[in-house]
Amino acid sequence: MSAVNRGFALTWLGHHTFKLVTRGSRTVLMDPWVESNPACPKELKTFEKIDVMTISHGHGDHMGDAVTLAKKFKPVVVCNFEISLYLGRKGVTNTLGMGKGGTAEALGLKFTMVHAIHSSGIEDGGQVLYGGEPAGFVITLEDGTRIYHAGDTAVHAEMALIGELYPPDIALLPIGDHYTMSPREAAVAARMLKPRWIVPAHYGTYPVLTGTPEALREELKKLDLDIEVVALRPGETLS
Ligand code: NI
Ligand code: MN
Repeated sequence: MSAVNRGFALTWLGHHTFKLVTRGSRTVLMDPWVESNPACPKELKTFEKIDVMTISHGHGDHMGDAVTLAKKFKPVVVCNFEISLYLGRKGVTNTLGMGKGGTAEALGLKFTMVHAIHSSGIEDGGQVLYGGEPAGFVITLEDGTRIYHAGDTAVHAEMALIGELYPPDIALLPIGDHYTMSPREAAVAARMLKPRWIVPAHYGTYPVLTGTPEALREELKKLDLDIEVVALRPGETLS
């Protein structure tokens, strides 16, 4: 596909972190983890601007750089209510705390918070703070294109509802196994979501994250699903 022709550019920063630049030149950073992210190319750890930041859950490999980047670039931070309170205590003011099933608009883009099965504790000073529930986001762009960032999740039956209500053009799915879906489960997720393209994520960062795009293609074939797996390399942009 040519994402550039569709007017946006989606770059994988490694692990579950994605940078999206929309047709309207909005920069969206999903799950801000770059500084200590071993998969993030060095030159992509710095930003010119960040307009919106989404946070799927409270784990460090998803929001490790949220406070620093939010203070520096003053984006609208879209996250669950508890994480918005946490960020508020850290001095991040421009948060948009929301709940599952809701859609919030920020700078002409729509953010729908959807279900995920995982956990969301926030490690802070040797303690684990309650971080609300984990979530995924369906982001609706200016031209109606939908991108589903699943966050960390198991496959779950509500994905059929996401497929019905907000059928995504692109699904960013974890496939690493151990903490999230494996390729086998991601293929079943895809059957419910019916995306045109899958960009696999949350694999390869550490040895324990064993899922591969090739395995996902095999599993999709077993289910007779004709969905293209776009395996980006960290730093690569969908085009
Ligand atoms: Ni996690
Ligand atoms: Mn994770």
